[in-house]
Amino acid sequence: MGMKVGIIGCGSITKFRHAPEYRANPHVDEIVFFDRNLQRAKELAQQFGGRSVETIEELFNDPTIVAVSDCSSNEAHHINTAQALLHGKHVLCEKPLAISVKHAEEILKAQAASGKKLMVDHNQRFTKAHQKAKEIIDKKELGEVLTFKSSFGHQGPESWGVDKSNATWFFKKERSHSGVAGDLGIHKIDLIHFLLDDEIEDVHAFYAALDKVDENGKPIEVCDNVVCALKTKKGRLGTASFSWTYYGSEDNSTTIYCQKGILKIYHHPEHQLIVETKDGAVIKYELEPIQTNENQTSSGVIDAFIDCIIHDKEPSVTGQQALASLKVIEKILGENGI
Ligand SMILES: NC(=O)c1ccc[n+]([C@@H]2O[C@H](COP(=O)([O-])OP(=O)(O)OC[C@H]3O[C@@H](n4cnc5c(N)ncnc54)[C@H](O)[C@@H]3O)[C@@H](O)[C@H]2O)c1
Repeated sequence: MGMKVGIIGCGSITKFRHAPEYRANPHVDEIVFFDRNLQRAKELAQQFGGRSVETIEELFNDPTIVAVSDCSSNEAHHINTAQALLHGKHVLCEKPLAISVKHAEEILKAQAASGKKLMVDHNQRFTKAHQKAKEIIDKKELGEVLTFKSSFGHQGPESWGVDKSNATWFFKKERSHSGVAGDLGIHKIDLIHFLLDDEIEDVHAFYAALDKVDENGKPIEVCDNVVCALKTKKGRLGTASFSWTYYGSEDNSTTIYCQKGILKIYHHPEHQLIVETKDGAVIKYELEPIQTNENQTSSGVIDAFIDCIIHDKEPSVTGQQALASLKVIEKILGENGI
């Protein structure tokens, strides 16, 4: 018998990643969709097979649903994810884990009380080039990491979310809270923590709403750009830029500078990882193009989530790790920013 899973929130991330990846997973035999916009839940149930429910309680109170994806907007995660855990479900929560460290800590408390798995969708850890880079760094093939540089930017969420307009929740302070920092920045913060086996402890940052406007033509209430300097616990130094105003192709690149060479990740479309060594060697890896808003391939996250439930393993991205990344975002934006 396969597993029955539920999905809360039936917008873009559900349509492009969670629903297709659950459907493709051999251990899942039914998907139950819920959205407070009932029509969206019905449409996805039709598109992917499965059924929709009209209230979140139906999903929570169904003992046959063992796992839930929380794909609601940021401000609802601490409610939906905590409730799902307390109803005995394993949860895969979308990033950012919550709209504040305080709210994230409530989720972790619920997780501890429930004894259920909590995984967070920091999917950058799963891409082929990041995995390969991690292996090279872990084996110290290039010696120790000294510095790093990362950026993540695209044209903005108003062309991605289910509401394709400038009225999108991504632009609202009370719903997104952290703007591009919590949308794209947190992915790279988590990636740096993962690749370097380290944690960012000090930040200097500038952020602003430079260009995006809301449905009334006013500058948005959250940042559309962040630039920052970062220092890790182990003393590595780095810089990062996060943007919703890169009005060309997406930039998802990272460079890691080590004692004996450099790792260039997602700088080149065909060679997703390029290793340059101090003595002049250049090794070009052809792995897999990274997913972009236009190019959706399997992220591997759903399979990892199901696998950790079946084999009773620690999730590949834990609540504690997601909290650590959220703390950095809170430091970048300061107390008022998030
Ligand atoms: N991991 C990634 O790469 C990635 C990419 C995009 C979005 N996300 C995250 O996924 C989440 C959803 O983003 P999206 O792009 O799908 O947004 P979206 O606007 O396309 O969809 C959100 C959906 O959630 C529903 N919803 C909101 N609050 C709800 C609630 N309390 N109960 C039930 N339904 C609710 C909305 O009606 C909407 O249908 C966000 O937290 C976002 O940061 C993650």
